[in-house]
Amino acid sequence: MIRDPSPVIRHENPSQPSRVTRHGRICVIEGDGIGHEVTPVAVEVLQATAPDLEFISAEAGWECFLRRGVPIPEETWEVIERADGILFGAISAPPEPPPGYRAVIITLRQRLNLFANLRPAASPPIPGFRQGVDLLIVRENTEGLYVGKERSDGEVAVAERIITRAASERIAHLAFRLAQKRRRKVTVVHKANVLPKTCGLFRGAAFSAAADYPGVEVEEMLVDAMAMWLAKSPERFDVVLTPNLFGDILSDEASVWAGGLGMAPSLNLGEGVALAEPVHGSAPDIAGKGIANPIGAVLSGAMLLRYHLGREEEAALVEEAVRRVLAEGLRTPDLPGDRPPVRTEELGRALLTRLKELTWG
Ligand code: NAI
Ligand code: MG
Repeated sequence: MIRDPSPVIRHENPSQPSRVTRHGRICVIEGDGIGHEVTPVAVEVLQATAPDLEFISAEAGWECFLRRGVPIPEETWEVIERADGILFGAISAPPEPPPGYRAVIITLRQRLNLFANLRPAASPPIPGFRQGVDLLIVRENTEGLYVGKERSDGEVAVAERIITRAASERIAHLAFRLAQKRRRKVTVVHKANVLPKTCGLFRGAAFSAAADYPGVEVEEMLVDAMAMWLAKSPERFDVVLTPNLFGDILSDEASVWAGGLGMAPSLNLGEGVALAEPVHGSAPDIAGKGIANPIGAVLSGAMLLRYHLGREEEAALVEEAVRRVLAEGLRTPDLPGDRPPVRTEELGRALLTRLKELTWG
């Protein structure tokens, strides 16, 4: 599915989530740290829900770099090329990357042209948790400050922020289409008052796309005010459309309303390819302890089913299994609750049991 092997940002016209056949071959990249613990749970859940899916493991990440000298080996690219979708765990980034080392997830997003990052946050059925939040952050995923164009002479450091009309319009159309299937409201987040060229272009593209969707309400908000409103009144948001960096930050903030980083799923969407990944990182503080929350990874798998493979029913099944497990009070230590916390594997087993009940009726 790799259309273009060079790390060039390409723009194609369609902005509809792609649909492939009902079957699919999924490349599984566990990555580093808790990626090894949460990804297998997501694979088991997907396998139980959609038995025709085929899973092929491939390696990438910092551990891979230390072992083999490359963060993404050639055979991993080959597996990706033959895959319909990718399930990704998490990857550790060294604080001072060695020369030539580039963050794996950024390389994947740019090389596969995964132009959209969908990051939902919805209230979990956990007693005591704020209810009524159901929002979807639609983040531009290939440009902005994440294009990797930084330089420094030791005294002055410069990072380039690239915003193009084509990428901004493409992500805006996707946001409005998604809003049509939700509560029909889009909040465009930017900082065009201070960054009139870059954010101004993004904002302009968003409002010109909005004209094609008269049934969808559109509002705009400066990113700093957005950070405040997201903390204060998250219920007021439906679809949130934002450039890359703002979306990265705001989605971690929004994840609080879904139960924290361990609960937050995401999907990177391109043309004919998609990569599902929990929002969290490799969590070195808990890696290897068997206590990581697998729900973010599991719900990311459900997003792959829904938005990329067109398998809405199976996606809903996975989400219902998660809902039931949480409603019973089952939880890993990162979640609050009265019952004693369980380990990653036990939560995974409970999800499989609920899935069996749901499919057997
Ligand atoms: P992190 O998301 O790994 O961890 C932040 C905090 O949340 C930690 O206390 C961790 O224990 C907790 N946490 C995260 N996921 C959890 C889960 N599933 N269950 C329970 N608790 C969970 O972010 P941090 O610590 O800033 O970064 C650690 C490493 O991960 C770094 O090397 C960073 O570069 C990398 N990272 C990778 C990402 C990716 O692969 N997409 C995204 C974010 C960070
Ligand atoms: Mg992030």
